[in-house]
Amino acid sequence: MRNVTIDNITDVVINAMSPDIAPRNRQIMTSLIKHLHGFAREVDLTFPEWLEACEFMRRAGDISDDKRNEFILICDILGLEVLVDMQDHRVTDGESESTVLGPFYRENPPVLPKGASIIQKHFDNSQTVRVSGRVLDTAGRPIEGVTIDVWEDAPNGLYEQQDPDQPDYNLRGRFVTDANGEYAFVGIRPEPYPIPYDGAAGELLNYMGHHPWRPGHIHFMLFKDGYQTLISQIFDADTKYLDKDSVFAVKESLIGQMRPAPAGADTELVMDFDFRLKKAVAKTLIAAE
Ligand code: BEZ
Ligand code: FE
Repeated sequence: MRNVTIDNITDVVINAMSPDIAPRNRQIMTSLIKHLHGFAREVDLTFPEWLEACEFMRRAGDISDDKRNEFILICDILGLEVLVDMQDHRVTDGESESTVLGPFYRENPPVLPKGASIIQKHFDNSQTVRVSGRVLDTAGRPIEGVTIDVWEDAPNGLYEQQDPDQPDYNLRGRFVTDANGEYAFVGIRPEPYPIPYDGAAGELLNYMGHHPWRPGHIHFMLFKDGYQTLISQIFDADTKYLDKDSVFAVKESLIGQMRPAPAGADTELVMDFDFRLKKAVAKTLIAAE
């Protein structure tokens, strides 16, 4: 093709794809090319602006490694991760809503008995909270044996792997529901914190005039064979930024109320929160020919 013009370039690129590629590749790339070109036309993108975007992505790559993926943070700021998560985990049977995983999950947290504390280091000005509830199926029946990983930031706004002064796996734990589907643990009231803004994601926040803060939340991952894994967060009803989350992850159904604990309790606050899990979709068996 030699007669490439502003008007035909989109079709030229789409038609350059081989007829042999997978239909899904064709669908994704056709739409991506159309939207990318449409965007460049709509804003009349200049060459220096395009070049700066390429440099921005290079910087995002430079700061990324096996522990930090700047592109996920950029997608978070753009609301793309939460959109894809909602599309991929549509609520169909009253199961709990999911939300973004975030970059601070660690596998194999300490396995703890029901009611144990995940606090390994004391911080002044923090409030302890006993979080408890049940894990139910979509018919309301308790599910025994659900593994629940929990993790949260410290009162200084840092997760333990961001902070050399916190013990390994501080504020992380793995619990298993009992015969009544119940779980319980002691944590601390989570503090709002800024997502990492020392890299390209921070540059983008500045460009957009947006802040990096997240409302106080506790992360959860629930899994058991036969059920769909739930990755979610509970948001403190009284936290700042509940309506201004920098990554748009808050859902009304994920807001939990922390109340003063009854007299004689060993924590200052209590919070009840039940989860509902949906059955896993059975894998279709393809008959061998
Ligand atoms: C988090 O909740 O840990 C998180 C989520 C998205 C981006 C950064 C942090
Ligand atoms: Fe978080």
